[in-house]
Amino acid sequence: MKERYFTLAVNAALEAGKITLDYFNKKIKVEYKDEMSNNLVTEVDKKAEECIIGMIKKEFPDHTFLAEESGETGDVSEVKWIIDPLDGTVNYAHGIPIFSVTIAVEDKGEIIAGVVYDPTRNELFTAKKGEGAFLNGNRIKVSSSKELEKSLLVTGFPYNVKENPYNCIDLFKEFLLNSRALRRLGSAALDAAWIGCGRFDGFYEVTLKPWDIAAGSLIVTEAGGKVTNFFSDSFSVYNGSFLATNGIIHNQMMEVIRKNIK
Ligand code: IPD
Ligand code: CA
Ligand code: CA
Repeated sequence: MKERYFTLAVNAALEAGKITLDYFNKKIKVEYKDEMSNNLVTEVDKKAEECIIGMIKKEFPDHTFLAEESGETGDVSEVKWIIDPLDGTVNYAHGIPIFSVTIAVEDKGEIIAGVVYDPTRNELFTAKKGEGAFLNGNRIKVSSSKELEKSLLVTGFPYNVKENPYNCIDLFKEFLLNSRALRRLGSAALDAAWIGCGRFDGFYEVTLKPWDIAAGSLIVTEAGGKVTNFFSDSFSVYNGSFLATNGIIHNQMMEVIRKNIK
């Protein structure tokens, strides 16, 4: 069964990826999700999500869906599809080719399959629980960087950065001063996938949603890395805070986080 879910997740991500490319850099409708933040939604987010859910529903009409644009829908089921149809909407709306489609399968509370697809680079990151992580079919593994000072980090900021209770601007400064460099790409799912293939050594962010990191977290662990929430040695996609590393620098990053977030 895991194989069927996996194949379907891959096919749906590829199909949604095609939609995002078709509309990329064209005139599209962009709206604010709420008045208080810079949280955008485009017609492409919605089209891509409809496509993904439609494809999965055809095969599994009784499953649960947790998707960014439509929320939690479907039946109460042991299997939940966690979907971000377009991760990196702000980049997308500005014509910046850094965005992804991401789909994870949760079975009885455990993420068993994850896909992050980057359509502009045609890079498909995949993982199945216990079976490793792959980029376009080739096995990937995390980096071997040992020291935070020589590590390349990535982060993101929540849409409500101004009033977010986490002190993420101070944390940004601290990591900037204590690493080789710190990037902000704008797609949390890709940030995590890039930990999996060793491009980045560490990724942290506050106030993420389950659909941002469900697939990426499995890719990281299946590639030999480590994921936790802040202030915890365990991990839940529903917690919000997220630290993903090659495993080696995890404690060094956690120390910085714990010193700077009260
Ligand atoms: C956002 C991106 C971004 C992260 C934000 C997310 P969206 O997702 O993943 O990198 O910093 O916290 O909300 O809204 O583009 O799907
Ligand atoms: Ca997202
Ligand atoms: Ca999104």
